[in-house]
Amino acid sequence: MVYPQQVVLNALKILEDRRNKAEQELQEKKKRIFESVEELGELSKEIAQVSLLAVKAVANGGTAEHVEQFKLKSLELQKKRDDLLKGNGIPKDYLKCRYYCEKCHDTGYLTTGLCDCLKKLLINESAKDLNMKVPLDKFSFDNFRLEFYDTNLVPGLKEPITPREQAKKNLDFCKEYASNFSKESPNLLLGGGTGLGKTHLSLAIVKEVLKKGYSVVYISAVQLVLNLEGHRFNSDEQNKYSIDSFLECDLLVIDDFGSEPISSFSVASVYNIINTRLMQQKQTIINTNLSGQRIVDQYEERVASRLLGEYYVLKFYGRDIRQIKHLQF
Ligand SMILES: Nc1ncnc2c1ncn2[C@@H]1O[C@H](COP(=O)(O)OP(=O)(O)O)[C@@H](O)[C@H]1O
Ligand SMILES: [Mg+2]
Ligand SMILES: [Zn+2]
Repeated sequence: MVYPQQVVLNALKILEDRRNKAEQELQEKKKRIFESVEELGELSKEIAQVSLLAVKAVANGGTAEHVEQFKLKSLELQKKRDDLLKGNGIPKDYLKCRYYCEKCHDTGYLTTGLCDCLKKLLINESAKDLNMKVPLDKFSFDNFRLEFYDTNLVPGLKEPITPREQAKKNLDFCKEYASNFSKESPNLLLGGGTGLGKTHLSLAIVKEVLKKGYSVVYISAVQLVLNLEGHRFNSDEQNKYSIDSFLECDLLVIDDFGSEPISSFSVASVYNIINTRLMQQKQTIINTNLSGQRIVDQYEERVASRLLGEYYVLKFYGRDIRQIKHLQF
């Protein structure tokens, strides 16, 4: 698993803080309890000394009998300490260090490899790092305006609608989606021409869902493919987020789907992400300028059928709002 250096450092720092916190809490507990039950302090010191002597004996090649003696002594002292705790109504494991992760004691490593807690941290820190590059504060439901959309019927539709009516539907849907986001929410495909508010609305969703405490990753299809390729080629730091960052987050937004360079590798790896997330019931939002037919043409049938069959489609109509805004101000 490869991650940018800063992401790894951030994750390790969190582990270090967890360890320090656990150890500090233990020290405080010890201090308190040794003050009230003095004999416990003495016993703990004795246990530590015996352990030290045992280690020394082993290191100096002491006989098995000699080492065994220390072991017995230590067990005897521990029993005494446990009885003393019991006698004072204190749980036996009170003096155990309470790590955040009992499996790895907040080191992040097991003899078999990375502990799940470190994997999770790496994914969370990747999401934070990726989202830091997005100007989330600029996009909200509140500053999404309907006046930018025409009120003439869109030509050629089976069910007639104006761009503004459609935009209102999209806005209402996305607001609901964000406020009710859950593991049961549908996947979304936001489709339509450039500058019609797809990125705007999806980032407004990202912001709300992040506020609810879910892990969310927003990434352009170009960056996504670069990242996935980055693991095959020697790539710069920017493109070194592990594929897990994109598989494991609660919500993944892939923007500008269809603008990435198409190769058999990119199609297969994007399909892998879309499909794995579908199977794990993790939500994905995809924005694209491609029409349904272009998706079929550009991607393999299996990608197109996933997107068109298992995603809820929101269509965007109208004129490029970037240009309208430009003309107005
Ligand atoms: N309904 C809207 N109200 C206000 N600003 C909008 C609206 N739709 C788009 N914009 C703005 O216009 C620009 C282009 O929109 P964007 O969401 O990037 O379009 P798309 O992703 O559909 O190409 C952005 O700056 C965006 O904030
Ligand atoms: Mg966009
Ligand atoms: Zn762990």
